Amino acid sequence: MIKASISDNGNQLVIAEGEQRVRFHAIWLRDNAWDPDTRSVSNGQRLISLGEIPADISIGALQVSGDEISITFQPENRTISYQAKWLMAHSYDGESAHKRGWLRQGIETWGSELNDQVPVASFDAVQSDTAALRNWLHAIERYGFAKLANGPVYDQALFSVVELFGYVRETNYGRHFEVRTEVNPTNLAYTGLGLQAHTDNPYRDPVPTVQVLYCLESSAAGGENKVVDGFAVAQRLHQENPEWFDVLSRYCARFEYQGANDVLLRARKPLIELAPDGELIAVRFNNRSAAAITDVPFEDMELFYAAYRRMAGLIDDPSMEVSFRLEPGECFLVDNTRVLHARNGYSGEGTRWLQGCYADKDALYSKLQVLNLEIDGAQRAGVGT
Ligand code: FE2
Repeated sequence: MIKASISDNGNQLVIAEGEQRVRFHAIWLRDNAWDPDTRSVSNGQRLISLGEIPADISIGALQVSGDEISITFQPENRTISYQAKWLMAHSYDGESAHKRGWLRQGIETWGSELNDQVPVASFDAVQSDTAALRNWLHAIERYGFAKLANGPVYDQALFSVVELFGYVRETNYGRHFEVRTEVNPTNLAYTGLGLQAHTDNPYRDPVPTVQVLYCLESSAAGGENKVVDGFAVAQRLHQENPEWFDVLSRYCARFEYQGANDVLLRARKPLIELAPDGELIAVRFNNRSAAAITDVPFEDMELFYAAYRRMAGLIDDPSMEVSFRLEPGECFLVDNTRVLHARNGYSGEGTRWLQGCYADKDALYSKLQVLNLEIDGAQRAGVGT
């Protein structure tokens, strides 16, 4: 049973349902109205600007009928209906004291214990079954990476993986890049050396948010792929010393890549990136492309380096890593804003041929949300009436 009342001289609506009591401001309600004069019926986009809403907007009258709450706003004298269920689902009147480094719901950090349950799906299944695709994309949202097995083995087969959810991000490396031994490597990734775990292209802004690495040949010894959860690293750093976490999130590092073909890429971003309210949103770490750090004040530089050293130590800690070997037709996808990837060195005997490409999370999450709606039949997010 919903109860609603006007409070603070019409400035607030109070809804009570059982023990729960939440408040909404008149301006918030008016701005989030779903009547056809405020929002397009066809695409849900807002039709009015904030300037068209009177600054002295208030709730003049209220009527409750079942789940529907009708509010008459003054001085507009306009009556708009809201679903109480939608309002409760979008309540902002609660605990907001987040800890620095908090994680969005649905994200699960991990370490080497995930070796026993690496998220994986079969290529055929995700191509033919939307529920399997949804589950695979959901695993990427949750863990920041997932494998795909039993895929086709042909040149540029990796594009068929990106087509499952989005679009290739073309860069100066092309639409895709080759990862195998080359006689004159222009980038260390193209040699047989092992590589420390890293995120790709931190010298790019915006950074590619998804990377796909697809195996076409794998007869050389070694070369196992490893992934490390950058969010778990950041959490451990915070546990060990909040000052370390703080200094790496408070100041920007610098990254640079100067390559062939007139390329000079530079970015100034923190190693641990937080949203203004402290949400942990990205981790960047790439020793090869780290440039001189000049944005940390002299007084904090030693602390910064101590934190940076410990972050690198945690990234190299075997208890943080998951490793697997890719066979031809297998690939893995990482959220490049969260999960670091690495590989062991491999010998010159036999061949190892991977192809990689970049894509972005916006399309991946869009696909996931659409599949969630299709499969669960849930209401479109945000549509209240
Ligand atoms: Fe890489």
